[in-house]
Amino acid sequence: MAYVNGRYMPMRNAVVHVEDRGYQFGDGVYEVCEVRGGELIDRRRHLARLKRSLDELRIRMPMSEAALGVVLREVVARNRIGYGTVYMQVTRGVARRDHAFPTTEVPPSLVVTGRVLNRARNETLAAKGVAVVSVPDDRWGRVDIKTIGLLPNVLARQTAIEKGAREAWLIAKDGTVTEGASSNAWIVTPAGSIVTHPADHTILSGITRAVLFEAIKGQGLTIEERPFTLNEAYAAREAFLTSASQIVVPVVTIDGRTVGDGKPGPIATGLRREFHRFAERG
Ligand code: PDD
Repeated sequence: MAYVNGRYMPMRNAVVHVEDRGYQFGDGVYEVCEVRGGELIDRRRHLARLKRSLDELRIRMPMSEAALGVVLREVVARNRIGYGTVYMQVTRGVARRDHAFPTTEVPPSLVVTGRVLNRARNETLAAKGVAVVSVPDDRWGRVDIKTIGLLPNVLARQTAIEKGAREAWLIAKDGTVTEGASSNAWIVTPAGSIVTHPADHTILSGITRAVLFEAIKGQGLTIEERPFTLNEAYAAREAFLTSASQIVVPVVTIDGRTVGDGKPGPIATGLRREFHRFAERG
């Protein structure tokens, strides 16, 4: 079941207008929230980021955060999601095709869908660790806005899959790793400090990333928020990625080179275990 502009309907009937600006221009934003034990994880933070993305694009919130919370929970319930994700997308709405914003007031479109994920499969994946490959970061200059315009991310992920990897790490012109195609990127240096890119305009400021900062401090570990190079990542003791759908996933190879001893490291594994003690539920 999906929620589409005011109605809950079966997925096969869940359609949007051909002149929706999301469809024609990618003129919209989205969020993905984890669901665990039937509860939304970090809803408040995801909705705050949704609001920020919308503000940056001058699209209004389609409804209050409280009302949106009700819709999200309804989609979770109607799809009987114990473990999985909810996806919400807001676009500038339906208007005759013209690049500039509609001149008359158009209501933003809101779509919410949910997905059940296989928990055992995700745990197995995390226990084995994943491969990543590097690709040039050729995205636009405002990837801090969570827009639905994801073509470079789509192509990066496809390259990764075709090379037998799980995720692509995006490399800026100066050789530093910005983030993954749909995740944030982290390494643990040989000296044991945890490094991730600063949350500026060149990465999406992940909610998982923000919560993990608290978990890292909680464990008395050191964080360095700074760009790191691909070469530094090759030589790292551990590497991992974070996202709402996968939480913390150890990276065991980068471009076919083994990271550390080639097994998921203790820091990544520990943070994955600890994460939900620091996340908000419900
Ligand atoms: N992706 N960076 C990018 C480019 C992302 O698309 C995502 C999330 C993240 C991690 O953000 P968070 O921890 O808030 O999920 C970082 C979602 C899961 C997706 O596109 O499916």
